[in-house]
Amino acid sequence: MMHRIELGPGADPDGFRQAVRGLIARSVPPQEVVWATQGSPDLFGEAIAADAPAVALPRAVGELANLVVCHRDPERYALLYTLIWRITHGERGLLEVASDPLVHRLDMMAKAVGRDLHKMHAFLRFRRVEAEDGERFIAWFEPDHFILEATASFFVGRFPGMRWSILTPIGSLHWNGQELAVGPAAERSQAPGSDDVEQGWLGYYQSAFHPARANPEAMRAEMPKKYWHNMAETQAIPDLLRSAPSRVRDMLEREAAMPIKRNPDKAVAAMSEQDPKTLAELNRIISEAGPLVPGATQAVLGEGPLGANVAFVGEQPGDQEDLQGRPFVGPAGQLLDRAMKEAGIDRSRVYVTNAVKHFKYELRGKKRIHQKPTAGEVKHYRWWLDKELALVRPRLIVALGATAVLALAGKPLPITRCRGPAEFQGRPGFITVHPSYLLRLPDETAKRQAYADFMRDLREIEAMVEKRAA
Ligand code: URA
Repeated sequence: MMHRIELGPGADPDGFRQAVRGLIARSVPPQEVVWATQGSPDLFGEAIAADAPAVALPRAVGELANLVVCHRDPERYALLYTLIWRITHGERGLLEVASDPLVHRLDMMAKAVGRDLHKMHAFLRFRRVEAEDGERFIAWFEPDHFILEATASFFVGRFPGMRWSILTPIGSLHWNGQELAVGPAAERSQAPGSDDVEQGWLGYYQSAFHPARANPEAMRAEMPKKYWHNMAETQAIPDLLRSAPSRVRDMLEREAAMPIKRNPDKAVAAMSEQDPKTLAELNRIISEAGPLVPGATQAVLGEGPLGANVAFVGEQPGDQEDLQGRPFVGPAGQLLDRAMKEAGIDRSRVYVTNAVKHFKYELRGKKRIHQKPTAGEVKHYRWWLDKELALVRPRLIVALGATAVLALAGKPLPITRCRGPAEFQGRPGFITVHPSYLLRLPDETAKRQAYADFMRDLREIEAMVEKRAA
């Protein structure tokens, strides 16, 4: 029998929660449910009266669902219910399996909604109008998803003492200083033009503008042009760039840090069910999976020919690699290039990659400071690295530093004792230091000595490759 669940327009988290309780209590499988929202065409089946007890779910599921219900995708409730059904029917740890197609899709949806919330918090602009009953602030905004009610507490908390309205094409919010009312959709023409902007509000936004946007490219990426017409400060940017402290960015960073906890063991088990046949296919899977810890611009994939003489495996991309989307292009990469050249290693015959494919960092002011991946993160990416090397089939695999050793050997090994020829799961290998270690040494003599030792390793690597080729 089919069950038709009708939920409110837009995002209806409460209605969804209630419906889930009723459906789970009656053991209704996902394929017997049709999810409709008010205003959608009439379908078959009956509405379920949902008065059942709460369903015990891992906390992360609730957090994910709160975001996903705001997504525009008409399938959002069906997908979430399928997830909940599977979690309550023997797959308790499902959410930790990042590579499961359903989990991956829901993660992507949650991320899209998260970005939309960030944009609305950061780029919505109020304009002051003198109404008959006094001063009021009105803003126009066009969200991509049904996030209006999800943002209400943010704006009430931020502007509690003002009377304001937020108008959008999907509904409106009205705050009178005490109560919040949700109203109908609005049109842009109902919002005031920029002439009404009050200096005090502009001041508020000036103080909230983030200096990272001093980079015009980053600014355009972070602040898409579609929002500019609402924003008086786009005219004031040169001044803002000189003076702004980082309040909004801190806020965005806090909210962006909504990591969904994963269990690397389970992720690995599920990933091994995927079987990419080409490097391109594998790279697509890695790129689509997204970063384990939010923040990276993109996945940085390996580079070089199939059947390369040597595969150099580093730790994880750094700041430059993250921006350019290529491995070893920053300072450590330049040092590696120079050393390879000196050792007579032909760069065009070499494959270069990393144990971890996404940049992880901590923001210090404007700087993104590299953070070492945890053992769990290395493990998460390990299956991919293994597959990558199996597809590239290099003659020799070189581990650059401790993280690469952990990823390739599957256990931590001291570089000082294991430096030199090695074997990684039956494949010929070599262990040496990471080039960034040479850059970090404070003392010039130590640096010179370390570089000479590194050069000796590279020459040995070259000799091993030549021998294998002979
Ligand atoms: N360090 C690494 O380990 N890899 C890079 O790609 C850059 C720096």
